[in-house]
Amino acid sequence: MCGIIAVTGSDDTVEVLLDGLAMLEYRGYDSAGVALVAGGPVPSVWRARAANGTRSLEDLAKAVESAPPGARSGIGHTRWATHGRPTETNAHPHVDCTGRIALVHNGIIENHTELSAALEDAGHVLESETDTEVLAHLIEDELATDRTAGLVVAVRRALARVRGAFALAVVDTADPDLVVAARRVSPLVIGRLGEAVLLASDIPALLARTRDFFVLDDDQVAELRPGSIVVTTLDGAPVPLVARTVDWDLDAARKDGYEDFMSKEMHQQPAAVADTLRDRVLPDGRLALDEMRLSDDELRAVDKVFIVACGSSYHAGLAAKYAIEHWARLPVEIDIASEFRYRDPVLDAHTLVIGVSQSGETVDTLQALREARRWNAKVLVISNVVDSSMAREADAVLYTRAGPEIGVAATKTHLAQMTALVVLALYLAQLRGTLYPEETVQLLAAMGELPAKVAVALDRGGDVAAVARSVAASPSFIFIGRHVGYPVALEGALKLKELSYLRAEGFPAGELKHGPIALVEPGTVVIGIATRTRLWEKMMANVAEVRSRGATVVLVANDGDEETARQADAVLWVPPTGPLFAPIVDVVPLQQLAYTLARFHGLDVDRPRNLAKVVTVE
Ligand code: F6R
Repeated sequence: MCGIIAVTGSDDTVEVLLDGLAMLEYRGYDSAGVALVAGGPVPSVWRARAANGTRSLEDLAKAVESAPPGARSGIGHTRWATHGRPTETNAHPHVDCTGRIALVHNGIIENHTELSAALEDAGHVLESETDTEVLAHLIEDELATDRTAGLVVAVRRALARVRGAFALAVVDTADPDLVVAARRVSPLVIGRLGEAVLLASDIPALLARTRDFFVLDDDQVAELRPGSIVVTTLDGAPVPLVARTVDWDLDAARKDGYEDFMSKEMHQQPAAVADTLRDRVLPDGRLALDEMRLSDDELRAVDKVFIVACGSSYHAGLAAKYAIEHWARLPVEIDIASEFRYRDPVLDAHTLVIGVSQSGETVDTLQALREARRWNAKVLVISNVVDSSMAREADAVLYTRAGPEIGVAATKTHLAQMTALVVLALYLAQLRGTLYPEETVQLLAAMGELPAKVAVALDRGGDVAAVARSVAASPSFIFIGRHVGYPVALEGALKLKELSYLRAEGFPAGELKHGPIALVEPGTVVIGIATRTRLWEKMMANVAEVRSRGATVVLVANDGDEETARQADAVLWVPPTGPLFAPIVDVVPLQQLAYTLARFHGLDVDRPRNLAKVVTVE
């Protein structure tokens, strides 16, 4: 995600900012920028975007060499684009119309569309496509309305007008030593080094300089000056400062105290699902897909859908096939992307081809989508990377908002993909009128509960470890599921084989007796997805088939479902949810199982052998 760094009262403002940005680089970014306040009428602002593999931080450092000496305060930012493409204009810091203030922001301003319209009506000129820029103009507005109000008051008043999540740092040429920070949801920490006061979105950015931190809580504002930190609530009530000392090394800090990036990223899954849902459900219950460049009429004219993807993205697509067919009543074909263009698929202008790819760069999927365009099909991409190659070439893009994923195995991006795809399925259903309005309302309510249910599933990590211990000696695993449990079984098997290098295969449970059941002998570990989705009874009959042949059965089951538990040697419990949402919750213990088994075998879960995060060769 984006990174923030700010400083006041330092003799090395530029160095502190650039070092801090370099420390935040590991999070992934597509552009970066800094603003310095030295006592002149406007801040000096530099921005650079990473293009074609160049590192924007290096460009930025070169540009900032020309900065006039004597900066008294400064802010810096690494941006991971969500609203607005990764261009230099969209990079932070953003400034107001007068050039008096500059600010950097992490998070999402949910009501930015209505706020920008109101600001433009009032004569403000907004230059970027970001949700952030409205904040600079709102603060400008407040400073102009009440000339006695200083920056802190103006920031408080401006924030009262926004909805959403924010961590921000603002500098003001009228008060060159001042940095104002505020947060809601997105984190901020303050550090002190002699007279210098430092601010960052996460601890690694400051770790080289200090180990003593003050953590800003939700709805708090900090007024930072050389040698002084004053924290208040958004309502102006004073907040006592409580210092916290960390003894992490840099690597541990980057992982936020988790053992590895994979476990950090698994724990970010509730936020990845919530962020991917954010803004998409309008207050009246309708769905809005803001990055769609296809008109509703074009989508209504679609009579067939193809989904193309690889690996975990393919499994997300397979789960979506059930949702699109059931809710939107559209026929869906799904293809492994590397096979698609060689099989002469039948496509035309009424076909919608959905490419699913967290990176947006996987060459097999990119080429499949190019093939689709050759046949005039409409192309929609689900990607986690704004302006990725696939996103640039598509007719429409629906971005997942999982933030950068550093672990090679897809976890939070996979959950975010499944979330975006159910949103899309409901959108298509809405356009085609295939669901009753009250059904949609119920489904939206269930969708809103997904982040909390994913969090509950994650909390069961200790139970998963006990199950993992009980099957740790097995050299091979069979995963089975039916209906939407089938893609979950495939994903469980993929996670296990790529992380632990053990043999793991996923099958549709009904297919077992057509061959795979020959693999089952006493002690074979069979992992079944037995949550209460549509084919639960049939699934349990398949479970009975393997049990009677002596398999050790582990079942993913809904909380309190003792009937299912009685058929299992061990249970991975998950909260129940609507049947077509179930893969988003049910896959979580399988990720944890794969993770735990890999750790038992002493393997590097972040960098499994032979695998790459972005696969750009065919
Ligand atoms: C599995 C995994 C891979 C990717 C696949 C597609 O954990 O990470 O199977 O899912 O390489 O990558 P994207 O989604 O970037 O197209």
